[in-house]
Amino acid sequence: MKRAMRWLAGAGLLMTALASGAAEPDLLIADFEGTSYGDWQVTGEAFGPGPARGALPNQMAVTGHRGQGLVNSFYGGDQATGTLTSPEFTLRRKYLTFLIGGGNHPGETCIDLLVDGKVVRTASGPNSQPGGSERLELQHWDVSEFAGRAARLRIVDTATGGWGHINIDEIMQTDRKPPVLLTNPEREITVRSRYLHLPVKNGAPKRRMSLRVGGEAVREFEIEIADRDPDFWVFLDLQPFQGKSARLRVDQLPDDSTALQMAVQSDALPDADGLYGEARRPQFHFTSRRGWLNDPNGLVYHRGEWHLFYQHNPYGWEWGNMHWGHAVSKDLVHWQELPIALYPYRYGDMAFSGSAVVDRDNTSGFRTGSEEVLVAAYTSTGRGECIVYSNDRGRTWTEYAGNPVVAHQGRDPRLLWHAPTRQWVMAVYHEEGDRRSIDFHTSPDLKKWRFGSRIDGFFECPELFELPVDGEKSNRKWILYGADGKYLVGQFDGKAFHPDGEKQQLWWGNFYASQTYSNAPNGRRVQIGWGQGITFPGMPFNQQMTFPVELRLERTDAGVRMLAEPVRELASLRGKRRRWKDVELAEGENPLRELSGDLWEIRADWETGGAKRLGFRLRGVPVVYDVAKAELTVKGVVAPLKPVDGRVRLQILVDRGSIEVFANDGRVAVSAAALPAEGATGLEAFTEGGPSRLRSLEAVELACAWKRGGSGGED
Ligand code: FRU
Repeated sequence: MKRAMRWLAGAGLLMTALASGAAEPDLLIADFEGTSYGDWQVTGEAFGPGPARGALPNQMAVTGHRGQGLVNSFYGGDQATGTLTSPEFTLRRKYLTFLIGGGNHPGETCIDLLVDGKVVRTASGPNSQPGGSERLELQHWDVSEFAGRAARLRIVDTATGGWGHINIDEIMQTDRKPPVLLTNPEREITVRSRYLHLPVKNGAPKRRMSLRVGGEAVREFEIEIADRDPDFWVFLDLQPFQGKSARLRVDQLPDDSTALQMAVQSDALPDADGLYGEARRPQFHFTSRRGWLNDPNGLVYHRGEWHLFYQHNPYGWEWGNMHWGHAVSKDLVHWQELPIALYPYRYGDMAFSGSAVVDRDNTSGFRTGSEEVLVAAYTSTGRGECIVYSNDRGRTWTEYAGNPVVAHQGRDPRLLWHAPTRQWVMAVYHEEGDRRSIDFHTSPDLKKWRFGSRIDGFFECPELFELPVDGEKSNRKWILYGADGKYLVGQFDGKAFHPDGEKQQLWWGNFYASQTYSNAPNGRRVQIGWGQGITFPGMPFNQQMTFPVELRLERTDAGVRMLAEPVRELASLRGKRRRWKDVELAEGENPLRELSGDLWEIRADWETGGAKRLGFRLRGVPVVYDVAKAELTVKGVVAPLKPVDGRVRLQILVDRGSIEVFANDGRVAVSAAALPAEGATGLEAFTEGGPSRLRSLEAVELACAWKRGGSGGED
């Protein structure tokens, strides 16, 4: 029996070998993984003392090489020249293959095959224009006519201008026909369904893909398209092209790629049933169905809906192809994803961050019906600050014909209405040399803008708003911050910001580029940030938003400070609640030991007593207060936290990708990336170095905020 199996296995191997025609194993000529070029001969300086390991100083990222080392003649920059010549070898296979990148200067940045000292084959890199890519791609020569002959390879760099270098790696001899890169392969489709699903492989070469209708690219973007075995699927919304015949084109694909064949039309998402229930999908933090997200954009409340637009790559897991994704909520907790709101203006341009307002008095003249018009400002990377408007509650947006309305070196326009001076204000990030500032422009109609003033010391994503101090309507202050959220308190007169003091910090950890809602009801100031760096390996989406918080200002001994607490609508997720009162906690005790689960809100009012350290381990993630240092540490994120009357009060939100802590009624806010270890569902409250006293402790089970299955209830 055993012998029969071995024989069968052997026969199987033989048959595969015959079927692929790969009778002889491949022969490696050079992989450049060593520290020197060995017995290759070097002339000149361009090839350096040995193989490079990726990019050299001042070079763009080099990708596509195999292993660490490669030949990279950028040593000493583009001006350096030289040659690298192999020892003699015998041509024993049908094909010679290699990876090649760098300059397209035939004869000057090239690899040559020499037989009898004569160049019989030559190849050059792909780049001749500024820009381009340092990616190496596979190429091959059919050398069967030289079978058995002695040969040498010579890598040449005699070019000294732009792209005056050549990159080579992994030179092999093989009998298997290598794939050839096709240029602009296409597939015709008749648009019949809502979505076109595209296969993605993380780390695959970025290809330029387009959907073409009537010869025109109606969608065009970069995608790490999978030639086979996708990691996940993304989708292109075909709604505007129903019934049309279209071509799907990729700029380059290996001839054995199945990418175009795999693309499939369907009215549903491929894994609609499991949507929002994926193992690592945050259950009450906003994530996008597919792809990457960063900054929240255009936060505006309008007719019962909280709009959440956001920086979005719909076609990949990493940053890129910036669009404005869109979701709406009636309660800031349950979100419904809508079609993409802003596409890049054209290929190569991106729709960067911005904001939205309700133009109640139609100062812009953009209103077409009886409904209030929404106006948004965003950065079109190739043009400047642009205006778009919507007369259908944010569903579709129209470009203002006079765009851009502000052209400068900057981005991320923040619009607001300044009532006392009856004008619009745009706070926008501006850079000039090393100067990083926020500029204020003013406008009567959102179209014509006039520069007002500039304040230095801020980076990206400005935010500006007014809040009452201690809830007193007559005592109001303005807040100004950039992407890191470090804020100034002061006055804004419609043209310039006058700070009262130094910058202050409310948020710590994975929190960036936050925005607050314009037009929120009842004077509420609701803030959402990008949970920058909260990442979801193996999932079809990446990055999350922080849970919406309500901001307020309070007078403290140190001055006026901003505080943040989760919006009260969180209540709609609360389920089973356990409560403890006046627990004397000794070392080794754990009042939460009976509990286990996924999603939690934990509240504690804790007298530090004799403890040195106290806190929680929530699904294995530490939330620790160090009494002597007066520091709160949440999975590596450290925030200063002073006790108040010997107590710290903590409100903690535990989701699948993060832990957020609001301490001392919102004086300190922490967002920490924290993927709980798989299977870790237990909770622990502990004290160390002495006893402490929990005046109260609550553990509340939270529910999932998503409607499972379907398309998330879209339109
Ligand atoms: C901040 C930021 C913005 C820019 C956007 C691009 O995270 O860099 O300045 O508009 O992201 O996605």
